[in-house]
Amino acid sequence: MKVYLETLGCQMNRLDSELVRSRLRASGHEMVAEASEADVVLYNTCSVRDHAEQKVLSRLGADGQRKAAGKRLIVGVLGCMAQRMGTQLRQAAPCVDIICGPGQLARLPQMLEVAADGEVAVALDPDRRDHPKATPSDDENDWIDMVRDAEDTPTASQAFIRVARGCDRFCTYCIVPFVRGPEISRPPDHLSHEARRLVDAGKTEITLLGQTVNQYRHESDGSTTRFSDLLHILADTPGLRRLRFVTSHPVDFTDDVLQAMAELPNVCEYLHVPAQSGSDAVLKSMNRGYTRAEYDDLIDRARTIVPGIVVAGDFIAGFPGETEADHLQSVDLIHRSAYKNSFIFKYSPRPGTPAAKRLADDVAEDVKKRRHSELLAAQDAVGLTHHRAYIGRQVEALIEGPSPRAAKQPTPAPAGQTQMLGRTRGDHIVVFDGAESLAGQYVRVDVHDATHLVLLGQRAKV
Ligand code: 5AD
Ligand code: SF4
Repeated sequence: MKVYLETLGCQMNRLDSELVRSRLRASGHEMVAEASEADVVLYNTCSVRDHAEQKVLSRLGADGQRKAAGKRLIVGVLGCMAQRMGTQLRQAAPCVDIICGPGQLARLPQMLEVAADGEVAVALDPDRRDHPKATPSDDENDWIDMVRDAEDTPTASQAFIRVARGCDRFCTYCIVPFVRGPEISRPPDHLSHEARRLVDAGKTEITLLGQTVNQYRHESDGSTTRFSDLLHILADTPGLRRLRFVTSHPVDFTDDVLQAMAELPNVCEYLHVPAQSGSDAVLKSMNRGYTRAEYDDLIDRARTIVPGIVVAGDFIAGFPGETEADHLQSVDLIHRSAYKNSFIFKYSPRPGTPAAKRLADDVAEDVKKRRHSELLAAQDAVGLTHHRAYIGRQVEALIEGPSPRAAKQPTPAPAGQTQMLGRTRGDHIVVFDGAESLAGQYVRVDVHDATHLVLLGQRAKV
């Protein structure tokens, strides 16, 4: 069958979609780039905020109309939204034939056969309340990663590996522990095997994924592999030029990880460590497990131990009970941490989470909006200062390809060149004019200008 797969959400979702593509191709299906050409449309969707789910529901409405008009089409919802809504999805969108939770993706080929026979196929992970902790059999549930096709990566030189799945932290606003299940760290020998396969297939940059990646911990035969041990193991992969990891949690961010970052030449000096709020009262009510002072201490340790480290954050504006003074603490934290960038969201109550059950969504929408824009403005200011500090310096960028904005440039690139986009080890976006054939290469760029999000430069002469 011809399958169209659309992905909304985080990097973990993007990786899940890569695994699905590999799996479906291995069972004889063809992946197509246009929904209009497809016999099967699949949506792999995020539930973290309401926005992505609304988008998919409207897509499903349109698919339902095409089916009602006589089009033969199998429609499936995968991932967190499928897990969150379960069979309720069929009430919201009766055209849905496949509902597949994030831990069940390996079963999709069989589910497609069931749907082709006109039946509804449902595969969901056990309810979190019945499955509070990971069991040893979850450990073996990673064969879909092990058989992936190295073609299915974001670019020819970059790949994601998930080192841990699920989350046990239960921040009160967050749906992830309910839809992605208990936290499970994959065995280190599986991870180093996967890294070697990807590097042998030409990848030079690997990003390790986990909801709380620094809390990776694997026990076997009486020995424990901590996250810093895993960094040492994977950094040894011959031919691997860059190793990164996201997302870190401020709790248990011990110095051994920072030391590994400082010591291992291919581990990039980039840390995405969401604070969510700068106020102790809000952090407590979010169940984040750290205080503002502890977060500040982590940023200070990171800057001391890892020279040149680049830090990024996440914030939620308008969490229940957030006062103006709490909000100002978040603004202050953005200035103090001097993030390269931050992902800033308005609080959105997610059904089933402790906050949605227990805390009134009591910050008025206009106040939420204003606080959201004030956090963005603070971040734009520190982001600009951060990026401008690179003017006059030379950086190394891994070139991802032409910049998506190349066509909108005020002055077009010289003949034979286009505006190319790359990233530094610190995850800065770098744009410069160069040949499209540079994609996948490491290029030195002299930075001559900057915005709050981008370094602009020229390819260095030497
Ligand atoms: N409302 C708003 N933002 C949220 N996030 C997670 N849950 C919610 C929610 N209910 C944000 C957090 C997290 C990022 C992935 O999404 O900032 O770090
Ligand atoms: Fe959600 Fe908190 Fe887990 Fe992150 S650590 S996935 S915010 S529960």
